[in-house]
Amino acid sequence: MQPSSAILDRVLVLEMVRVTEAAAMAAATMIGRGDEKAADAAAVEAMRAALNELPMDGTVVIGEGERDEAPMLFIGEKVGSAIGTGPKIDIALDPLEGTTITAKAGPNALAVLAVAEEGNLLNAPDVYMDKIAVGPGYSPGIISLEKSPTENVQAVAKEKGVAPGDIIVCVLDRPRHEKLIAELRALGCGIMLIPDGDVAGVIATTNPDTTIDLYMGSGGAPEGVLAAAALRCVGGQFKGRLLFRNDDERLRARKWGIEDLDKVYDLEELAKGDCIFAATGVTNGSLLDGVKRLRDGKLTTESVVMRASSGTVRWVKSEHNPD
Ligand code: FBP
Repeated sequence: MQPSSAILDRVLVLEMVRVTEAAAMAAATMIGRGDEKAADAAAVEAMRAALNELPMDGTVVIGEGERDEAPMLFIGEKVGSAIGTGPKIDIALDPLEGTTITAKAGPNALAVLAVAEEGNLLNAPDVYMDKIAVGPGYSPGIISLEKSPTENVQAVAKEKGVAPGDIIVCVLDRPRHEKLIAELRALGCGIMLIPDGDVAGVIATTNPDTTIDLYMGSGGAPEGVLAAAALRCVGGQFKGRLLFRNDDERLRARKWGIEDLDKVYDLEELAKGDCIFAATGVTNGSLLDGVKRLRDGKLTTESVVMRASSGTVRWVKSEHNPD
């Protein structure tokens, strides 16, 4: 068990749910409306307002982008009602993970947040990250980005006691994954291709109901840190390596203090110490149900909040009165 943080105790675990609920309900007004930007903007504004109610000295370390590209919840923005006096908290957030999903009313859009004591979350630049994840119960080090997809599948299949062809792998449906998909098909694996939303994809490996054994492929690095925070709480293994497409991206990484650009990050290097992860479903998904509007104008939300130090996972169903 990880040592718990008195600082995080002061930022009540359940308060985190209020924040993701607020973002999810705001984003839900834009489900299926074909407007990704408006859905994201609604979630960002609501999450920011909810964060500013919390008695903390918060700093956004993973947010909507750098200050010049994001007017709100930009990296480095201070949030909370006790700036300068309250506990110093680092926050990784994605008010709407799955903007396109929301615009198209697809599955698995989430409002997501992770918090930790200052300095404990990797300041990941907004670049891609090569990721591999497996759920809990396997030998430490069973997955590796240095091994081929085939070797990883074979290792997991062997410990699970099944054939490689029985392994189910979740992969983002992107042209850049063509080679990976072909290699997995050659093994006979089942591939769950997701249109977006790899935070949910990684977390799905921890839930046997999803039948997903492994997550593989590249997606956003900020989403990698958020998913790692969740796995720190529920178990499972994750490896991530930043991917750079040009010198500008390398420069950005150096700006955030990353010196070894080829480093493979383990869970604890992405989210250290005690941390709290919270998510609320925007649309229905493998992890959570989405926001629902009842006949009397009430809204229902489903959320999960978990903490690394205790391993406690709380599922929260809420009914909200209309304003
Ligand atoms: P948005 O919330 O910005 O829509 O991102 C969704 C997402 O699918 C992430 O889950 C994933 O990490 C990333 O985009 C993948 O990026 P790309 O769409 O460029 O392949």
